[in-house]
Amino acid sequence: MKPHVLVSREVFDETIAMLEARCEVESNQADVRYSSEELAAKLADKDGAVVSTADRIDAALLDRCPRLKVVSNVGVGYNNIDVVACTARGVMATNTPGVLTDSVADYTFGLVIAACRRMTEAENHLRSGQWGGTFLKQMLGMDVHGATLGIIGMGRIGQAVARRARGFDMRIVYHNRARLDAASEHESRSAYRSKDDLLKEADVVVLLIPYSPETHHLIGARELELMKPGAILVNVARGGIVDDEALVAALRRGRIRGAALDVYENEPRFHPGFLELKNVVLSPHIASASEPTRKAMANTAARNCIAALTEGRPPNLLNPEVRARA
Ligand code: DGY
Repeated sequence: MKPHVLVSREVFDETIAMLEARCEVESNQADVRYSSEELAAKLADKDGAVVSTADRIDAALLDRCPRLKVVSNVGVGYNNIDVVACTARGVMATNTPGVLTDSVADYTFGLVIAACRRMTEAENHLRSGQWGGTFLKQMLGMDVHGATLGIIGMGRIGQAVARRARGFDMRIVYHNRARLDAASEHESRSAYRSKDDLLKEADVVVLLIPYSPETHHLIGARELELMKPGAILVNVARGGIVDDEALVAALRRGRIRGAALDVYENEPRFHPGFLELKNVVLSPHIASASEPTRKAMANTAARNCIAALTEGRPPNLLNPEVRARA
């Protein structure tokens, strides 16, 4: 008998076809948003789940899914999944590392340039009919080339951003939980700093760390106060790493020059104060959203799910210590 799998949000047809070759699939191509209650009810008789990073998989939900053997996240960040609770119940958890690195790094760089050069503010100015002609001091921004980039989180994506920054002649400093070895520091032409020293030194601070209780509000009022007055903050990692209330306050009083955000606390809601500010570039959590990359993410998640259910060992297992359910 084929294993039963739920795909919680719309994916590509090729992803469904891949799953259907090996599993009985309940898909959601209409992209209805399931409540926690609906998701738990749909997963109650499933062996596998292909879920989005917006789906919360916690102990209470897992307790209602006695057959579930794998939760396969379409995304590299997996703070939506309680991995400890999965392990305790014999459920494998997987994510999609690697396939989105370059697309997220490209987008990060887009946000860096947009914020430094006030691109969305300029577009809004033009669209709203305010443009009265070119003049010398119009929309003055800061140069990206020659600026110091501070990368907090020097994993795969951080290093890919550093590669792009070298092409823009930026100086690069970084902070990471574990310092890179000398060869990687040399390769990325970046110098290690403590978090506080990085905040004091960088013209552009980019956040590329996972969200966890340890990184909750890693950037709050104290940290914003440490940043240079002319600095830019870019968050493409996860909402909750930045204290959005403190950021709105800092942007309002011009404590830092600006920010660019792809992620927010309590998505899809976000702090309404951001909408009143000109010095913040906003986008709706799309850093990985190029078509090839989103396909690669969905297909990787499908492969993880199939491998877990048919071979018992998926490639991107987050809890290798799990004693998987029979
Ligand atoms: C990820 O993969 O974690 C992206 O943020 C998409 O949710």
